[in-house]
Amino acid sequence: MQLILAPMQGLVDDVMRDLLTRIGGFDECVSEFVRITHTVHSRPTWLKYVPEIAQGNRTFAGVPCTVQLLGSDAENMAANALEAVRFGADKIDLNFGCPAPTVNKHQGGAVLLKEPQRIYHIVKTLRTALPEHIALSAKMRLGFEDKSLALENALAIAEGGASALAVHARTKVEGYEPPAHWIWVRKIRDAVAIPVIANGDVFTLQDYLAIRQESGCERIMLGRGAVMRPDLARQIRQYTQGGAVEEADFAEIMGWIRLFFDLCLAKEANNKYPVARLKQWLGMMKRVYPQAQEVFDGIRTLKEADEVKRALAQFAFD
Ligand SMILES: Cc1cc2nc3c(=O)[nH]c(=O)nc-3n(C[C@H](O)[C@H](O)[C@H](O)COP(=O)(O)O)c2cc1C
Repeated sequence: MQLILAPMQGLVDDVMRDLLTRIGGFDECVSEFVRITHTVHSRPTWLKYVPEIAQGNRTFAGVPCTVQLLGSDAENMAANALEAVRFGADKIDLNFGCPAPTVNKHQGGAVLLKEPQRIYHIVKTLRTALPEHIALSAKMRLGFEDKSLALENALAIAEGGASALAVHARTKVEGYEPPAHWIWVRKIRDAVAIPVIANGDVFTLQDYLAIRQESGCERIMLGRGAVMRPDLARQIRQYTQGGAVEEADFAEIMGWIRLFFDLCLAKEANNKYPVARLKQWLGMMKRVYPQAQEVFDGIRTLKEADEVKRALAQFAFD
């Protein structure tokens, strides 16, 4: 089995990847998408989006990190992928699932699922351009408006030369509306010869067991569930290793909240980033933990980082 932390632009940046992979359970993670338009990104840009590149493509805890690209111009994507590799990247993933209207307007992300031939061309072009030892994978949704091209797109990705395929089990039009159609991941898994990673709506250990059964996949990708319940991957790992599952109590989670804030401050102390990111994360965790609501309420009106740090120090949940 394998657990992968999903790419989530604006939510799982390098600091969140660092934190969640320290907590444990993950085998791999994927960067937020790096958008490719007409230029070739410079080294500082790659390192801004994926600082792990400078650390041997690993998070602080040593978990491998893949660089995700989003674009539609195969040649330019290949030129960018080669630059990323020149600066140290060793795994590239291609995004064929982003639903954002601005991205789709520029022919990137999920809109490409209307044209399996273009998907094939992009994968094939990158596979041909990249050195053999650089892994190339892709991530797709089940389609744009409907699922009629799901298998064709998956086959295009496999025939283009990708070595793995993550499937978010919804169409673009379905957005993030439950349910995720895990049975479709099974259909794709049965159709292609490369490993398929099942993704969508795994929020609990029970969901993990259900997605494995329904999709037949051994590799599972966790997105929002891993942010809302930061020890979800660790619980799954404990379960699959046959040990007792020990859910984190809120005292432990409070330690992670303080660590997260310190890591955000270490990255960018002089702007709104640390406080904004902390509020964003608490906003998600409070759907699972009533104590997170308490912490959220305690800092909601605070704007300055030192005030927030003082407030965080005062919470005790032992
Ligand atoms: C805020 C947000 C940002 C996302 N950004 C990306 C991204 O950069 N690349 C990508 O392939 N998928 C992205 N996704 C999709 C997720 O990787 C994942 O496929 C989706 O959230 C379903 O999994 P989940 O139900 O476990 O969250 C994003 C999802 C969310 C909610």
